Amino acid sequence: MSATSAASAGRREPALTGATVVLIGGSAGIGFETARLARAEGAALVLTGRDPERLARAAAELGALHSAAFDATDPAALERFFRELSKPIDHVMITAGRPYYGLLADMDVEQARRSFDEHMWLPVNVARLATGTVRPGGTLTFMGGTGARRPRPGLTIAAMGTAALPAMTANLALELAPIRVNLIAAGFVDTPLSAQLLGDDLDQRREQLRATLPIRRVVGPADVAALAVHLMTNTALTGATYDIDGGQQLLPG
Ligand SMILES: NC(=O)c1ccc[n+]([C@@H]2O[C@H](COP(=O)([O-])OP(=O)(O)OC[C@H]3O[C@@H](n4cnc5c(N)ncnc54)[C@H](OP(=O)(O)O)[C@@H]3O)[C@@H](O)[C@H]2O)c1
Repeated sequence: MSATSAASAGRREPALTGATVVLIGGSAGIGFETARLARAEGAALVLTGRDPERLARAAAELGALHSAAFDATDPAALERFFRELSKPIDHVMITAGRPYYGLLADMDVEQARRSFDEHMWLPVNVARLATGTVRPGGTLTFMGGTGARRPRPGLTIAAMGTAALPAMTANLALELAPIRVNLIAAGFVDTPLSAQLLGDDLDQRREQLRATLPIRRVVGPADVAALAVHLMTNTALTGATYDIDGGQQLLPG
């Protein structure tokens, strides 16, 4: 094979050319990296987040088509956002939210409820708005976790979401077909959220993961972004949960 034909054999079309990708929670972490990769694959981006300045910076950096600052757990604001979108759109990924960890004795019930709004009601509300907004064959991608699969005091609320999301995803995949619906279940991902949750313990946690994970490195948001873009583009995938944790759930303790 000549050098020229070898080069053209290795070349491929960007996977998301002509597609519009909406990232609900796209100004940081996993959502931001997924937006970056989707853009590199030719997609037009719509980014949302609450902090307008952080969102504007992210939208400018990635050349987003549109951005909207609002709290995605506010059903009226979410509905307005979808109503005002130029339609149809191709893919929606939800990365807004944070887990709730805490013992019953010092549970902040408002925060615990909020994490349910973010991880359970937000996907349901997006699913309700998807018909007529997301084109047939397009996708919804949700975020869950692997860390609360093993019972431990303090994980009750996180475990409820962890257990419920795969079932929600499978049911929505049937009800919304031919829109495809998938769930990513992550272990530790090195994002601003993880930095905030761990504070001064972040570096120690990274070191421990590097030493113990079967992959011998820490999972980053770009790793999750690669999986998310795959879920958008592989039309065989729907109704399933995809673990990405570097083997973390296989370790004892
Ligand atoms: N990082 C991990 O180790 C890990 C592991 C498993 C699962 N997850 C889940 O994966 C998702 C993304 O995590 P991440 O680590 O990428 O988080 P992150 O670094 O905190 O980024 C979250 C993004 O969502 C936005 N956001 C948060 N709450 C929102 C709300 N109510 N309405 C609109 N936008 C909102 C944030 O911007 P604003 O704050 O400005 O709104 C930001 O753009 C979360 O659901 C998290 O629970 C994370």
